[in-house]
Amino acid sequence: MTHNLLKGKNGIIFGALDEKSLAWKTAEKAHEEGAKIILTNAPVALRMGRINELAEKCETEVIPADATDMDDLENLFTKSTEILGGKIDFVLHSIGMSPNVRKNFPYTDLNHANFIKTLDISALSLHKLLQAAYKLDAINEWGSVVALTYIAAQRTMPGYRDMADAKAVLESIARSFGYYYGKEKNVRINTISQSPTLTTAGAGIKGFNSFYHYSEQIAPLGNASGDSCAEYCISLFSDYTRMVTMQNLFHDGGFSFTLSSDDVLASFDQ
Ligand code: NAI
Repeated sequence: MTHNLLKGKNGIIFGALDEKSLAWKTAEKAHEEGAKIILTNAPVALRMGRINELAEKCETEVIPADATDMDDLENLFTKSTEILGGKIDFVLHSIGMSPNVRKNFPYTDLNHANFIKTLDISALSLHKLLQAAYKLDAINEWGSVVALTYIAAQRTMPGYRDMADAKAVLESIARSFGYYYGKEKNVRINTISQSPTLTTAGAGIKGFNSFYHYSEQIAPLGNASGDSCAEYCISLFSDYTRMVTMQNLFHDGGFSFTLSSDDVLASFDQ
């Protein structure tokens, strides 16, 4: 069922790799809700992934951009406004990658060149895209920018390694840039802290499967699915959330505020 929540709006969606990607699901829903969108991903992901299928489905095109490269980002915003015939109303930052996680470096023995890459790709990319948009004045008044994050930014989860630090920086950038962009243009910036979800990035985290089932048992509503994450993103792009900014919003079935559950405690009964 659609409600035309995004009718007349233009968006840019970063990070759709395959149909499991949170960005893929959000792009499909944004299209269903009447938005015109541009899809983007790193050039290497365009070769590996299936983004062209999504572009066909959403009747749009893909503009390659490495989210760590300012020239690519400026080109992306300039071309997107040309193709869409107007400024941008919403942006989804759905980007994460840690070479330390990929190569299995323990947190106490990280490769620091990798660490800098993790921060650049997974956190500074939000600042970079916002800076490019701000400079070009590419986002409409009351526009909405959403970035996806994870609770390991607040609460330690060992296997998440340097991604936890990157997510803490990402959430801080949303608050800091949210102040300036809000004051200047009424643009709102939020992060959504999503439940563990089976995607390419999710599956790369050590212990992901066990933790997926653990949080499913703790959260009163269970884990939030990728589809429901997409719906939450749409609500934040819509005009119904115009006064929400600089927030980290937990979308996790109540996991973040539940210390334990009857199910989990029962497994310790003696
Ligand atoms: P995914 O693997 O489908 O998406 C990650 C995307 O980041 C890929 O499309 C990849 O090509 C893109 N990317 C990597 N380096 C890039 C670069 N230099 N420039 C542009 N794009 C680049 O996985 P998923 O799970 O959909 O991840 C999306 C976001 O959601 C990430 O920020 C992730 O940390 C976050 N998240 C995921 C959770 C999960 O359990 N899957 C839970 C909470 C947050």
